[in-house]
Amino acid sequence: MLVIYLTDIFISVVKLTYRNFYSSFPIYDWPGYSLDLFTYPEHYCGDLQSVYIPHGVIMDRTERLARNIMDDLGDHDIVILCVLKGGYKFCADLVEFIKALSRNSRKSLPMRVDFIRLKSYLNDQSTASLHIVGEEDLSFLRGKNVLIVEAIVDTGKTMKALLKHVEAFEPKMVKVAGLLVKRVSSGVGSFPDYVGFEIPNRFVVGYALDYNERFRDLHHICVISEQGKTKYKI
Ligand code: HPA
Ligand code: MG
Repeated sequence: MLVIYLTDIFISVVKLTYRNFYSSFPIYDWPGYSLDLFTYPEHYCGDLQSVYIPHGVIMDRTERLARNIMDDLGDHDIVILCVLKGGYKFCADLVEFIKALSRNSRKSLPMRVDFIRLKSYLNDQSTASLHIVGEEDLSFLRGKNVLIVEAIVDTGKTMKALLKHVEAFEPKMVKVAGLLVKRVSSGVGSFPDYVGFEIPNRFVVGYALDYNERFRDLHHICVISEQGKTKYKI
């Protein structure tokens, strides 16, 4: 009994030490893969610093998130609320994986897919105000299980404001899936229930994420370069 107890304490100490070591280890804030390892469009030559998450890795992680969502919400009727514009790729791929799981298992997830368009960024800075573009009537959310699908959550303030907005329509349940969550110090907002990757506070583009509407056509998630920021600044 004592041996088991001591072993448990030992394992906890190792885990804690490892976690502290890991989070302070430079590779945790690594700069990304060299651009030479992957292909990307010629028109972005010089505008990128590195490939942060290759497309294949995004897909594999999304497949697993689809399984987690299916395990938790399978057999519920859900409304997927895709946050445009940045969330369109992640949402489309997530829906495809959920559909594939529904076809291949006894659990199924009837879904309605809808969209909400937000704007809160100019250049690489948050404008602090949640701006819902073309305000839509979301009253169909009343009494529904809602899954908000967002590409990126940084301070969480936008998500917090969006949750407040959605909750005003009295849905039965609201969950959030975020492909990326940034590790930022002023994280006072809401954190997604399903997270693809936690990344450092770098401005990333690609896979539908933009910098002033550019780079949505980039296959991988990449870190933008200073040249890219200057070239497309408005
Ligand atoms: N890239 C693109 N859009 C964003 C980001 C980012 O890093 N953070 C918040 N919106
Ligand atoms: Mg944007």
